[in-house]
Amino acid sequence: MAMLARLGALAGRSTQEDAQVNGGDDAAAVRVTMILAKDTAAQADVARIGLPDCSIRSFDGTLDSFAANGPLVRRTDMLVIEIDPDDTAALAALEQFAAGPGSRMAVVAAARDLTISATRRLLRSSIADVLPVPFTHEELGQAVETARRGLAQRQTGDGSGGKLGNIVVFHGALGGVGTSMIAAQAALQWAESKQVLVIDCDMQRGSAALYLNLKPRLTLADLIEADDRLDVEFLKMVAERHQSGLSVVAAPSDMAGLDTMTPEFLERLLDLAAQNYDLVVLDMPGVWMDWTALAMQKADIIALVTQLTVAGVQQARRQLDVMEANGLGERVRVVMNRMTAGLFGKYDTEEAASVLRFPVHFALANDFPTVAAALDEGVPMKKIKMKARIDKEMRQMTSAMAQDMASANAVAGA
Ligand SMILES: Nc1ncnc2c1ncn2[C@@H]1O[C@H](COP(=O)(O)OP(=O)(O)O)[C@@H](O)[C@H]1O
Ligand SMILES: [Mg+2]
Repeated sequence: MAMLARLGALAGRSTQEDAQVNGGDDAAAVRVTMILAKDTAAQADVARIGLPDCSIRSFDGTLDSFAANGPLVRRTDMLVIEIDPDDTAALAALEQFAAGPGSRMAVVAAARDLTISATRRLLRSSIADVLPVPFTHEELGQAVETARRGLAQRQTGDGSGGKLGNIVVFHGALGGVGTSMIAAQAALQWAESKQVLVIDCDMQRGSAALYLNLKPRLTLADLIEADDRLDVEFLKMVAERHQSGLSVVAAPSDMAGLDTMTPEFLERLLDLAAQNYDLVVLDMPGVWMDWTALAMQKADIIALVTQLTVAGVQQARRQLDVMEANGLGERVRVVMNRMTAGLFGKYDTEEAASVLRFPVHFALANDFPTVAAALDEGVPMKKIKMKARIDKEMRQMTSAMAQDMASANAVAGA
């Protein structure tokens, strides 16, 4: 329970998806997220604000927990956040967010008792607009229109930080179920049409580089060591290129303590990676640490890999408990690996789903010869065996996930 409480504090809560969203959530609408002080929120009654071509949700958290919530950040075209203009630390943090990971959205600062000098200071930074608190319907409407005009420019991804790639986490319910195999092979499939970066976060048993037949000189340990000096040039230097075009940050070659990674560093690394790649794939160690929880907060999709055994189902349920308690349930896709087909070539996942009280989204065939050869040679499994059942199933999985992410990415005005 201690773990649940701790993670919950990290998460922050969004109004339940679509519950307080009005004006529709169609792709053309400006998607506004509001982080307001309690009394302001009560006064504004976010649920009732109706603006044309605009959907509004409120988020009950901090700038930090908003920034850590990958899908929410991705579904936000305009952030309205209430700040105290005299709180210089909070202001600096907001400016930093607006200039960095928040640069593809319009960041609007809302504040009580705004002086002209405070307004000037705010507008000189990357903050798009300033709203007085309390604001009127008209004032908010004007801010939305200003944001709408700037959005196309912000989100075209002209290489100046406008890109915001997706993040997929592969997390095993227990060891040896095929998490790394699936992460590596899925990344290869996505790399056919996207710029993909794999980061092997399995600090002690990392096998991503091995499974892609790469021998990197530099690893995640070097990134962690660089700490503040981490930048895109260094990231690209550490990332080893696979012949497919896929980039891979390998796990440390020496056994590293799981706590050498921190949530703060991982957040910076993920923000940087997402600004420079279309898709970031994380191969996770399967344990819960502060930083693994942060990775899940940042992720669009959490692939929970397991097998159809008593332990596999039971451990998956335990993982789901923690994920659901942290509001991550919607992102989870259960992947049952090493399945054996029954009569008529079908898999029976019904019982597992009922024990899990959760759908089994994808099932992958047990095919050791194909998998083992693909991992030995570090090539896509279709090169080992054309039309292998597992390759077809992997493709169904990767394209379903890509579609889910694409629809969540829908850009306002596009
Ligand atoms: N669908 C599958 N069919 C046959 N063997 C598999 C399959 N998936 C994984 N394996 C094998 O299982 C072993 C463990 O896989 P790995 O991806 O390293 O597991 P994990 O990362 O969960 O510890 C590997 O030797 C791999 O060849
Ligand atoms: Mg592994």
